[in-house]
Formats: sequence, C-alpha cells, structure tokens
Amino acid sequence: MKKTLIIEAPNSKKAAQRPPVFRSVDSRTIPPNLLDFAKGKKFYIRTYGCQANYRDEETMAGYLSEAGFERTDDPKEANLAIINTCAVRENAEEKVYGEIGSFKANKEKDPSFMLVLAGCVMGEEGVGESLLKTYPFISLIIGTHEVSKLPLLLSEVLKNRQTLVSSSSFSSEVVENMPSLRLSSFEAYVNISYGCDKFCTYCIVPYTRGRERSRQMSDVLKECQDLVESGYKQITLLGQNVNSYGLDLKDGTNFATLLDKVASLGIPRLKFLTSYPSQFTDEMIAVMAKHKNIDPWLHLPVQSGSSSCLKRMGRRYTREEYLSLAKRIREKIPDIALTTDIIVGFPGETEEEFEDTISLMKEVRYASAYTFIYSPRIGTPAARMVQVPHEITQKRFLRLKEVVDDLTKESSDKMLGKTVEVLVEGVSKKDPNKLSGYSRNGKLIHFEGPSYLTGCLVPIKVLSSKTYSLHGELVGDPLLLKAKDLAYLMSVDPFLGAFKNLGDVLSKDPELQSLGEKYIELKKKTALSMGKGKEYEEAKKTLLSYQDAIKSHPLLENYRSMEKEAREELSEIAEILR
Ligand code: SAH
Ligand code: SF4
Ligand code: F3S
Repeated sequence: MKKTLIIEAPNSKKAAQRPPVFRSVDSRTIPPNLLDFAKGKKFYIRTYGCQANYRDEETMAGYLSEAGFERTDDPKEANLAIINTCAVRENAEEKVYGEIGSFKANKEKDPSFMLVLAGCVMGEEGVGESLLKTYPFISLIIGTHEVSKLPLLLSEVLKNRQTLVSSSSFSSEVVENMPSLRLSSFEAYVNISYGCDKFCTYCIVPYTRGRERSRQMSDVLKECQDLVESGYKQITLLGQNVNSYGLDLKDGTNFATLLDKVASLGIPRLKFLTSYPSQFTDEMIAVMAKHKNIDPWLHLPVQSGSSSCLKRMGRRYTREEYLSLAKRIREKIPDIALTTDIIVGFPGETEEEFEDTISLMKEVRYASAYTFIYSPRIGTPAARMVQVPHEITQKRFLRLKEVVDDLTKESSDKMLGKTVEVLVEGVSKKDPNKLSGYSRNGKLIHFEGPSYLTGCLVPIKVLSSKTYSLHGELVGDPLLLKAKDLAYLMSVDPFLGAFKNLGDVLSKDPELQSLGEKYIELKKKTALSMGKGKEYEEAKKTLLSYQDAIKSHPLLENYRSMEKEAREELSEIAEILR
C-alpha cells in the first residue's frame, strides 16, 4: 500500500494561536522533476467558497502554469486536479466527498494522475486523515497556508511516490511575488490582508486561515497599478475584515488610506469585501463618497438583528450601533446598495431575537442578503452551546427568505426605466443570445448584444425586473461601445503611452532638430551639385554621414524598436475589432 507522510496535520488549539507575522518573497523556483512531469500535462481546479479561495485558485494555477502544465476546463482530461474546499458555504464538505470519487476514473486511465485537496476544509482537524482512509489515491493534502509551497510539495510527492499531508495550523506568513493565472481578464481580486482575529463564536475561518495580517500598502498598490495598466475594469480588495487592514503594520496605515490610494489609480470600478461593522469608520464613508469609481455597493454582514444574539455570536456591536452606521452611510451615499449575511438558528436564538433580525432587515432595506442556516463547526465555541431544533430553524429560514425576496425585488424595481452602467460578464448562462453583467450597485442584468462586448462597460436601460435579475437593452451602437473600450485600453497601456511620449520628445529634441535642419540643407546642396563631379561626391559623402548620425541616434533607435512593437499591438487590437 502507498505510504502517507504527514508533514503537519491541522490542530485546532494550535490554529487558535496568533504567532508573529513572517514576511517572505517567493523565488518562484520550480523543482526540475515537476518541470519534467508537467510536460504535455493538464491541470484542473474546482473551487468552492468565498473569493479568498478563488484568489488561492489563481495563485495555484499560476504555479502550475509556470511548471508547464496547461489549464483545462474538462475534469476528465486532467492529469492533475485540485479540489479547493470551503468549510462554510454550500454544504461544501459533503460536496467534496462526491467530487473526490469522480476523479477515480482519471487515476484508472492515467496512473500518474495526481489529486490535490486544498482549501479551508483541509485546515479542519481530522478531516484529511479520514479522507485518506476512504480515498487512498489522493496525492497531496494542503491547507490554505501552503499555497506558495505547492510546487515543492508536488515535487516531493513525485520523488518519494507517497501521499503527503501538509496543512499547518501555525502560520502567519505573508508571501509576496507569487505567480497568478487570473480567472478573468477584466475583473480582479486583490488580497489586502489574510486571516481573521475576530473569532466570532460560530466561525471556522480564524482557525483555517490563521492570524490576521496585512500586506504592505506598496505591494497592494503595485498589484493594483499593474491591473489598471493591463486594462482591468474592476478591482475588488479582499480581506476577511478589510476594515482592520493595516492596523497590524503599526505605521499609521489604515483601510481608508489604502482605499483612497487605490481609487486614485483610476480603476473604473472599485469594491471591497468584507466589512466588519464596528470597524467601519466615518473616514471610510468619506473616502467612498469622495471617489466616483468606488461602487455604491457595500456588503456589511450583520448576522443577526438582536443585540443579545450578537453578543453570543461574539460580534462586537449592538443592533443600535449597526443601525446608526447604516444611517450614517446612507446620509453620505444616498444611492448605496447595502447587502448582508444573516445566520438563522444560531444556538439559543429565540423567536423574539429572530423577529429582531426581520425588523432590522426591513429597517435597513437591504438590496439583497445571503442567508445561512447555522451549522456547528467542530472546535468553535458555538458548537458547544444549546442548539435550536432543526424544524424551528427551517421555518425561520423560509420566513427570512420571503423577506429577502421582497427587499431584493423592491430594490430591483427602483431601477426600472433607468440607464445604468453594466460590466459585461459574458454570454448569459440561460440564453446564448443574451449577455449578462453587473451594475455598479451589484444587480445582475441580462440584455441582448454581441459577445465581443464581454469585459466592456456599457450603458443598459432597465426594462423589467424579476426577483434576482433584471432585463434591459443596450443603449448605443455596440461597435462604437467596443471602440470606446479599445480607446480606454490604449490610454492605460503604459507601452503605447511611452511610445507616444517618445514621439513627442523626438519632435522637440534640440539635437535631433538641428541634425534634421542640417540634413535638409545638405540634401539641397547635394541636389544642386549634381553633375559637378568631385563637389557632388563630397556633398553626398557628408549627407550620408549625417544620415548615419540620425539613424543611430539613441532616441530614434528607441522609437523604431517601440514602433515595431506598437504596430504589433495595434494589429492585435485590429484583430479583436474584426
Ligand atoms: N469574513 C467574512 C466572511 C465569513 S464566512 C465576514 O465576516 O463576513 C461568510 C459567512 O458565512 C458569514 O458572514 C456567516 O454569515 C456565514 N457563516 C460562517 N460560519 C457559519 C456557520 N458556522 N454556520 C452558518 N453560517 C456561517
Ligand atoms: Fe468569521 Fe467573524 Fe472573522 Fe468573519 S469576522 S471571518 S465571521 S470570525
Ligand atoms: Fe469558506 Fe474558507 Fe472562505 S471556509 S468562506 S473558503 S475563508
């Protein structure tokens, strides 16, 4: 039987500790045996859960493509597959079991097939070991802290032909310079901090994702600047609690400063996830109100509308404080769409506490809400509290859903007849003739249009509304909208900008100008001396030497080499247009 080497298995006590932050810069070396193995092979990644997990997928995909693997969307043809798990959402744990089984066929077809389990579930105590008993063909189990070690661990699996488990609980690393194969070419997620120190009593995240630690502001800004220059239309700043960003850096950095700076880089749309109510400052509201490119949309999880329930949840605010914050936000940003997360059936939740949640939702008038049925996570304090019977939770959940549906419909109806800007995500999943995308306030809108508008910002007039989606029509000629988009892409491209600047410099450079004038003069002289034997020969020689001097002028050489690349870029753009 295949051996298993456990480098480190998760331990919830250890995971609750907060070790000092350790920063490193990845050298991005791919071990030679992995480079060999990857030749002609394909990888597939399936991710569950929140954006932090999707961002991890992009990093892992970055490593795999640097190793030489090609990405595939078809799990059946994968030679290496990663299941990136979530411990909170979508009954993700149960789904993982089914998913692992489906890769058995890959192993039978290709004995060198590698299955990697990653993500938050792998940071839960005992899960990895039990999975290995049922599915011995798993190659590697890693936690969220091992993402940057993926190439090294895969190389070890190949070398020793044994399964590895490496899911450390005691990590507080911030790794920079990791590769990234982004899932989209127009909307990007940027981590600003990792982990969480809030320890809400129901939540597993502080254990699976470790200590809260911020990236340096300069690293975040550099990543965002690169995205702007590559033509991205939307950036979402990510952290389990973005509002505490920078406080651990102890140099006066805070989220409001970061948000202000990122917005100033000029990305057309800027969002952030997730906000913790008691740390949402008035300074942040002011920054949001100041920048037109920060979307009028805010996800502000409340979890419960009852102060006593919030206290048991370990949330550090009361119902009144939350309502006052929502009011302050609406005062400064009247058209803001507020969304939230609610947990139903939290241990000890009384009918009265539940009613408080309903009344808070109606008072805040959320544009939509994610609703979760409480489910105990082993190792968290709430799992040891007295649980609410399932039937009661179920009834409350249905009542809550009705309220959410009504509020969602109400906020969608308000958009009827209005023309809003939509970032086109692509062809609608339900109707191949339709495109869909999101408005600035986070509403999904479907409309008819050509697929080449994917990734563009377009004006859409809203014509009708259903609970969870809106329908509209494109305002304007799609070709012109595409042309506008291309003009934008060219305006942010630093290379095309440099090329244009160089052209301007060139026309004003005094040395080049006098060379040019002299050249014209000599050209005339040569022309006039035509047929005059020696005089002509002399004039021609001087003219040629000036020609060489101009040709080899460093500014012109630069211009020529850039012109070639610029032409290539422009012809690519022309190709897209066609
Ligand atoms: N850091 C974010 C996201 C946390 S997980 C935040 O603080 O909002 C996303 C959501 O999952 C939470 O907001 C919560 O509503 C829900 N959730 C977390 N643990 C849960 C549990 N044990 N049972 C049910 N819902 C849970
Ligand atoms: Fe979990 Fe609370 Fe942290 Fe959000 S703030 S990740 S709910 S512990
Ligand atoms: Fe799930 Fe982990 Fe995110 S538990 S919600 S993937 S932080």
